Amino acid sequence: MKKLQFIVHPSQKLQGHYRVAGDKSISHRSIMLGSLAEGTTKVTGFLEGEDTLATLAAFRAMGVKIAYVEKGEITIEGVGLHGLKMPAKPLDLGNSGTSMRLLSGLLAGQKFYVELTGDESLSRRPMRRVTDPLKQMGANIETTLKGTAPLKIHAIKNLNAITYDMPVASAQVKSCLLLAGLYAQGTTCVTEPAPTRDHTERMLTGFGYPVMRDGNRICVNSGGKLTAMDIDVPADISSAAFFMVGASIAPDSDITLTHVGINSTRIGVINILRQMGADITLLNEKEVGGEPVADIRIRSAQLKGIHIPEDQVPLAIDEFPAIFVAAACAEGQTVLTGAEELRVKESDRIQSMADGLQALGVDAQATPDGMIIQGGKMQGGTVNSHGDHRIAMAFTMASLRAKGSITIEDCANVATSFPNFTQLASQAGIHIEEQANP
Ligand code: S3P
Repeated sequence: MKKLQFIVHPSQKLQGHYRVAGDKSISHRSIMLGSLAEGTTKVTGFLEGEDTLATLAAFRAMGVKIAYVEKGEITIEGVGLHGLKMPAKPLDLGNSGTSMRLLSGLLAGQKFYVELTGDESLSRRPMRRVTDPLKQMGANIETTLKGTAPLKIHAIKNLNAITYDMPVASAQVKSCLLLAGLYAQGTTCVTEPAPTRDHTERMLTGFGYPVMRDGNRICVNSGGKLTAMDIDVPADISSAAFFMVGASIAPDSDITLTHVGINSTRIGVINILRQMGADITLLNEKEVGGEPVADIRIRSAQLKGIHIPEDQVPLAIDEFPAIFVAAACAEGQTVLTGAEELRVKESDRIQSMADGLQALGVDAQATPDGMIIQGGKMQGGTVNSHGDHRIAMAFTMASLRAKGSITIEDCANVATSFPNFTQLASQAGIHIEEQANP
């Protein structure tokens, strides 16, 4: 894959109104459920990032007709719950954990063999968290000896429903099992140790498929059907988070991010930044296609260090790289605990961020399940994103407070979730250059 590095020069402030990239989680699910529905689903605001395009390519390879209408707009001719065809070759899901984990559930009950592969990062990530419960349901699914991809999913006669108490709060595991539950005999139930993003449940309901929720337990029966619908994908709060942090830490900033999804299972970053003293206002709140959205106005503010409440961790799981940069610019100490999941994301986000912050002169100590950061001054320097899109974008925002230029290595994967990031960042006021790595 081509190597890319960002060079970001000290920048002053962020200003303007922007719509950031479409929500990655909702875009993945729109392809998956649209493909399994009866009728034609129209999706607008679709994220054309490498991750969601990997999901799209996978469904095309299984015989689903998906047409590109115009930027961010696609139509999916659903084939029904039993209409997928065996793909001619392994499905390459690139860097996308969501594609692999959700597809493993959706494909476990099919009548054909399929193999799921991914890039180097995805091939290191733990898959037993999905394959163990799927095997309990009767799936015939193989991992490597290390419990990683490639996943080989063999055709089976039947899946049986289970009730599964999830050991980790993971929306990917929950969604995997609910999708498998569409094909399992009986009632499949998942209980979550803490609330996680609920887009699968909301979208299944939107497609007319009954989902039962009782406290922290979510259940589905097989035998229903999905009826096509139109989906308006809001902007991704996980992409907005970089600009929220940037505008908070850069003096005199004032930006508005439009049409952002503010689902209560995703707004940990707003809660945490507000607790740190951020000036965030939600405007034009409304509901679009079963998901709450708002325009988010952020003005700069002096942030202070906090002990991040552990109940916010699953609600901000993708936003910690950005939050760590906010903490480095805050007055006093910020402590994160209970976030060991960050070690198994696209990179080990605790180590990648602690190393990068230290390279910029920040006192950031990695702990097994989080980080302790002393706010202070930041220098320029060179940091490695380890091919992790969110590490690259977080350090881009650090340029708003660093005293010198920052070189960020291995940035090509920004295209997995936010293809026009550098363009928006530069429009908003960041002095960013892209360079092919020497
Ligand atoms: C996602 C769930 C989260 C998140 C990922 C997207 C999803 O993963 O980190 O970027 O769309 O379900 P976990 O559920 O494993 O925490």
